[in-house]
Amino acid sequence: MGLLEDIPAIEKAALDELKAVDTPDALEAWRIRYLGSKGAVKATMQRLKEVPKEQKPAAGKAANQLKNALQQAYDSRSSELGAARKPRPARRIEDVTLPGKRPRLGHVHVITQTTEEICEIFGRMGFTVASGPEVEDERHNFDCLNIPPAHPARDPWENFYIDEKTMLRSQTSTVQIRVMENQPPPVRIIAPGRVYRPDTVDATHSFMFHQVEGLYVDTGVSMSDLKTCLDQFCKALLGHDVATRFRPSFFPFTEPSAEVDMLFHYDDGSSEWIELGGCGMVDPNVLDAVGYDSEKYTGYAFGLGIERMAMRKYDIPDIRLLFENDIRFLEQF
Ligand code: FA5
Repeated sequence: MGLLEDIPAIEKAALDELKAVDTPDALEAWRIRYLGSKGAVKATMQRLKEVPKEQKPAAGKAANQLKNALQQAYDSRSSELGAARKPRPARRIEDVTLPGKRPRLGHVHVITQTTEEICEIFGRMGFTVASGPEVEDERHNFDCLNIPPAHPARDPWENFYIDEKTMLRSQTSTVQIRVMENQPPPVRIIAPGRVYRPDTVDATHSFMFHQVEGLYVDTGVSMSDLKTCLDQFCKALLGHDVATRFRPSFFPFTEPSAEVDMLFHYDDGSSEWIELGGCGMVDPNVLDAVGYDSEKYTGYAFGLGIERMAMRKYDIPDIRLLFENDIRFLEQF
């Protein structure tokens, strides 16, 4: 049989097979069989060489028609199958009456909230906020605070030493020195911040806690100014029924020194004295150490535990709750 007779048979077979093609994979197999580089159309083109000269124009035309017809048939089948494959767009049903999803917003920690409130109350009394490093040298943590070399407060078991002369500060009193070294009197600052002590952890003690230091140095500052300041502060923070008391105590950097306690009333009618911190009149040795004229200036200082105040204010029974990072607890405040 000559090529001219074969071409219609090839075309018929191809188009019949194409009718039965119903998947993209079957279509691809068909394409390879007929239109591929080793397919029937290519073979037909190659056979043109064998055709006698006088039949060549007609055979060439028929071969080209075959190629175009199969290509067209392939294209239209391909787009039919492609359209069938496309997923139907999902129907979007929006119920505009449903409540929205609230984003989960964080907020500042209860200790930060308490610190901010403390700063605001002292701010109203004329104190500005100062700060100092948590990694301190012995000079600021002890020497300038009149704490002698053999004092038990310097014991390595009482402090987190980093090397022989460097430590995590054990009290915010370090900031008193840093401020006085850098400015002449009068000074009226508070310094809130973290302090570190290797204390045994229990319901009222942590190895890291926060203090707020206060320092007021000027001419004519007296112990009664200190008592009024702390009493007014406690009332502003915790309510007007909170009473304060001052117990004689000892700190190397104040003379006289006192512990300040507050009388806290519980909802069930009972009340309890809670120790807030230490305080006293700045020791003249401390004023001399920073170059202040201790004959001319007097001052008071205090250092209060912020956790103790937050625990009273928010009725928190255990200091450990503050630092365990349990969101269920923290999000209450
Ligand atoms: C001092 O740290 C002195 N620097 C305070 C001071 C400042 C006295 C200025 C005079 C002039 P004390 O070690 O007592 O004092 O600590 C003060 C307060 O910090 C305590 O009353 C308590 O409220 C809190 N505190 C102490 N240790 C811990 C602890 N381990 N965990 C939580 N709070 C603590």
